[in-house]
Amino acid sequence: MQHISSTLGVPDTSYVPRHVAIIMDGNGRWATQRHLPRVAGHSRGLDAVRAVVEACAARGVQFLTLFAFSSENWRRPADEVSFLMRLFMTALRREVIKMHANNIRVRVVGDLSRFSPRIQQLILDAEARTAGNTGLTVTIAANYGGRWDLLQAMRKMLARSPMLDPDAIDESVLAPHLAMSYAPEPDLFIRTGGEQRISNFLLWQLAYSELYFTDTYWPDFDAAELDKAFASYRQRERRFGRTSAQLLAPGLSGTA
Ligand code: IPE
Ligand code: IPE
Ligand code: MG
Repeated sequence: MQHISSTLGVPDTSYVPRHVAIIMDGNGRWATQRHLPRVAGHSRGLDAVRAVVEACAARGVQFLTLFAFSSENWRRPADEVSFLMRLFMTALRREVIKMHANNIRVRVVGDLSRFSPRIQQLILDAEARTAGNTGLTVTIAANYGGRWDLLQAMRKMLARSPMLDPDAIDESVLAPHLAMSYAPEPDLFIRTGGEQRISNFLLWQLAYSELYFTDTYWPDFDAAELDKAFASYRQRERRFGRTSAQLLAPGLSGTA
């Protein structure tokens, strides 16, 4: 199914965001504050993932995208990276079974070639096992970077039509090759942990997303925190370039 691009058209907005994208940040600081090793924060972060997946499913969210590991996170100390890889494997083994039982579809986006063959196989298994599920789609962004995504999309686009006329390139030619072309653009972007930046997450797709930042560290983020973000989202006026008056009186519609 093709979704309306926020720049080619005006997407429908709904009371509950259809697509929520989250930068799960603050695990390390959560642990340090408790005099625990940073990795203890990552373990607790997985508990928060479980709670938020459940809460999104219960609230009728259709797509939940979680930034688990960025293309820049390889720069971290080797022992932290290997802990995160093991945690990812545990999640792929254990959590996917529970998600499958709850009709949740699991997808993974990112440059997967950098992961061990074992992880790559677990990803394929998780995606295949849950492919027929019709409830919430949970996308894990792993070794993902927004710039990587744009570049791989351009490469695929040109591989398909090497003689492509540059003037023929528009959104509808490029966007189908983006890693998350199966989902509408995020309605709501959440970043926990206090930083107010995108950190190379979904650069293309966040064009008209509502941004929500909270100081709460990811391990402390739960259903109540999600409801706070949703409440903030409901207060937003999503104009997509139009004026407030046009939203109130759709008859005043413009040209596009
Ligand atoms: C987010 O928490 C998890 C990953 C990036 C894998 P951090 O580990 O970045 O936690 P802080 O930002 O150092 O507190
Ligand atoms: C962003 O968090 C990536 C993930 C949550 C996976 P970081 O902690 O890596 O971001 P920066 O380095 O503070 O921008
Ligand atoms: Mg961080």
